[in-house]
This record gives sequence, C-alpha cells and structure tokens, in this order.
Amino acid sequence: MVHSTLPPITEILDARRGEEMALNDRYLNPQMGRILRTLGFDKEWRGGEGAHLIDASGERYLDLFGGYGVFALGRNHPEVVAAIEEVMAARTANLPQLGVTLLSGVLAEQLLERAPDSVAAMVPANSGTEAVEAAIKIARAATGRQRVLYAEHAFHGLTMGSLSINGNDEFRGGFEPLLAGCDPVPFGDLDALTRALEGPPVAALVLEPVQGKGVNIPPPGYLASAQSLCRAAGTLFVCDEVQTGLARTGRFLALEHWQLEPDIVCIAKALSGGMVPIGAALVSRSAFDRVFDGMERAVRHGSTFGGNDLAAAAALATLRVIDQERLVARAEQLGALLLELTAPLVEHYEVVRAVRGLGLMWAIEFGPPSGRAARMLWEAVEGRQAGLFAQLVTVPLFHEHRILCQVAGHRMNTIKVLPALTVEEEEIRRFAQALEQTVAKAEHYPRALARLGVRLGRGAAGARR
Ligand SMILES: Cc1ncc(COP(=O)(O)O)c(C=O)c1O
Repeated sequence: MVHSTLPPITEILDARRGEEMALNDRYLNPQMGRILRTLGFDKEWRGGEGAHLIDASGERYLDLFGGYGVFALGRNHPEVVAAIEEVMAARTANLPQLGVTLLSGVLAEQLLERAPDSVAAMVPANSGTEAVEAAIKIARAATGRQRVLYAEHAFHGLTMGSLSINGNDEFRGGFEPLLAGCDPVPFGDLDALTRALEGPPVAALVLEPVQGKGVNIPPPGYLASAQSLCRAAGTLFVCDEVQTGLARTGRFLALEHWQLEPDIVCIAKALSGGMVPIGAALVSRSAFDRVFDGMERAVRHGSTFGGNDLAAAAALATLRVIDQERLVARAEQLGALLLELTAPLVEHYEVVRAVRGLGLMWAIEFGPPSGRAARMLWEAVEGRQAGLFAQLVTVPLFHEHRILCQVAGHRMNTIKVLPALTVEEEEIRRFAQALEQTVAKAEHYPRALARLGVRLGRGAAGARR
C-alpha cells in the first residue's frame, strides 16, 4: 500500500522513459507483451505526428494501423490539440448533469447536419461499443421487441450487448450466456435476411456498411434492400459507422455510397481526432421519442461522461479539419490510387487472393499457392497457426520498411490498413511498393520465410497459454 509521490506528467515521461514494456508486463497485459516481443513490435514509441509514429531513436514509421482507425486526421493534429487546450483554458461548466452545455449541443447539430435526414437526435457516448449498446437498448425500447439481427463476422465492440451481436467466436467464447434474442445472418445474403425477419419480430438489424474484420464490402444493392426489408418488418435499421464513418471510405458516412436512411447511426473512433474517448448514436426522432417519452424517463439511458466538453471540443475541431482539408475527397482519391497500385498483385502473385477497399479502408487477402511444393510449405506455416502467412508480410514491412500494419482479424490471412486520411500520396506509393517487394519475397523465398513462420508460430502459441 506504500506509494511514491507523483511528479508532473512531463517529468514522468522523461524520467521513466523505456519502462513501458516492463510496466505493461507487470500491471497491464503481459500476453500482449509476449505478442509484441514475438513479432519484434516492442518498440519504445516516443511520439506521433501525422501519419507517423516515431521511435526512441527518432525513426519514423508509417502508421497504417491508426490506433484501430482513430487517427483519421493523423496523430496529434494541431487543430485538435489547440481545441483541447482552448476548452481547458476556458474553464467551462463541464458536465453539470442537472443542466446542459453548449458544446455537445453544437456537436449534435453539426453531426446531424452531416447525417441523413432520417436521424434527428444524438445520444452521446464515450466509445464505439457504448454507441452500439445505446443502439441495441433504443431499438428494444422503441419497438418493444427483443430480437436483434447481426451479420456473421461482424464486430461492434466487446461489452456484453455489443459482444452479443459479434459475429466472431473467438471474442464470444467464455462469456456466455450473452444477450438473448441475438441472431446472426450471413452478410450480403438477402434471402437469409428475409427468412430471419419472418421469424419472431425483430427490434433491429445492426450492420457495418463495410465490415471491419476483413474489409468485406457488401454486394451491390444489399444494404438498400436490407433497409427496405427492415422497414417493411417494422425493424429498425442500424448502421454501425464506428470504423467507416468520418470520411474513412471517401464519404462523410459510408452509408452515403448507397443513399441509406437508417434509424440509428453509431459513430466513434475518429470523431475526436483520436485524442479523447468519444462515441455517439444518431437516432431517428420517432425512435428517440418512443424511448425518452416522459420526464420520468429522461435519464433512462446515458453515461456520466457522455457529451463532455473535452470530447465535444475535439470532435468539433475534427469536423472543421475534415472540411478544411477536404478529407472526404482525399480519402476517395488516395483510396482509388491505393487500389489501382495494388490490384495487379492478384494477377502477379499466386498467394494474393484479393485486394479490396473503399476509400482508405483497404485489405489484401492471401491464400495457398497452387504448386505442390509451395502449397506444402504454406500448409507447414499455416499448420502452426492459421493466419501466420500474413504475419510473414507484416513483420518485414515493419522491420525492413518501417510500415506498421496488421492482420484484419484472428486467424485471418488478410492484412488491413487504415491510414491517416492526411497521408501523403508519396507514402501510399511507398507502401504499395514495399508491399509488392515483401509479397514477392514471401513467394520466392518461402523456405527462409517458413523458418521465420515457425519461430513466430512458437511464440504465438506460447503467447496464448
Ligand atoms: C464497427 C465497429 N463498431 C464498434 C467498435 C467498438 O468500438 P470501441 O472499441 O471504441 O468500443 C469497433 C471497434 O473496432 C468497430 O470497428
């Protein structure tokens, strides 16, 4: 129980430099420490600027992981930093609780101006999963129905409600029983959705317009038809734009690609420029009013920090930067360039199964080569741990090219990138070139890479224990 006196933050950052891995292993997540060491990703990160992370020796790494997609504006965007400093300096009457504040009202106004007309109110939250929890609760209370449909492979967060509509067993296992009445449907399959809607009444269908796990793009017409089927069934149509929103796919919200008019839109991640936890559910007037339908029900959903001034100020600055730097158009253009540069890999390399993307949400998927010897090597590597081949690409990209990216999901041979939307065209070209070199090596020198794979396999297997 004895504790040391704490110096100011700048002193901590200086005096305790280099202790982060040891502290993580002692107090936070030692299994994550093992993964980082195994892959050689255990860097001492000293700073972040724009599209880059900077290590202790001052080397810059192109960050295509983007903190799980929160750094759409790049790291430490000066306008967001300034907004945070400004709101702190203003000493606002933050979170009066029995009272309301200006900045979250302006944020709601600004978001709703940019969202489809089908939504008219904002429920503030502090993260993506909280925005999704709000959507599930609102859908149930507004419709008086229990069932919630979600897509296979969906990811909506890891708290109990959002986990109940998570389409990946590796996240669900061990936490059951989850929420009753949550049923999966195959993403992109309208017949299956029709059948599911014919069963007991459904409160909501929750979909990511583009699935984050694997960057799965819906078949043409799927989302609009899904929305129509929901309308006909009295089911709320919920778009989870936590990852796809805020200009990522070359539209402010990805739903604009298909002119969707959802009943609820969930946003989070990039909304505060990556600087402050934030989330929000944008909700139709009718659903909102059916849930908050009297004074005694005014606080039936919410959260202490929801709508706080720090997050709202960062979010307002983020919206301003998206407009000023024309990030929607930039994501569309640079995304098209990335696809153009990388699509030929499918023809050129046997192991490349697909390259897909929408705006600056992009993925490359690997699969076994056709030759017998090469296939055996592939199987030897994959036998150790499914999805290991993709790590044979991410590890050299990191160590040889100083590019940080990762697999798109557990045991997946798909690499996903979510660059800062402010990234320079030159960096996109550098990534495409580095990727091709790395994939070429992986295909031409499978033995050396297989050895590396075995090493990683051992480490990764150990890390799971
Ligand atoms: C589509 C989607 N929804 C929800 C979440 C959960 O967000 P958070 O991690 O902020 O809870 C994520 C996180 O990756 C996501 O990609």
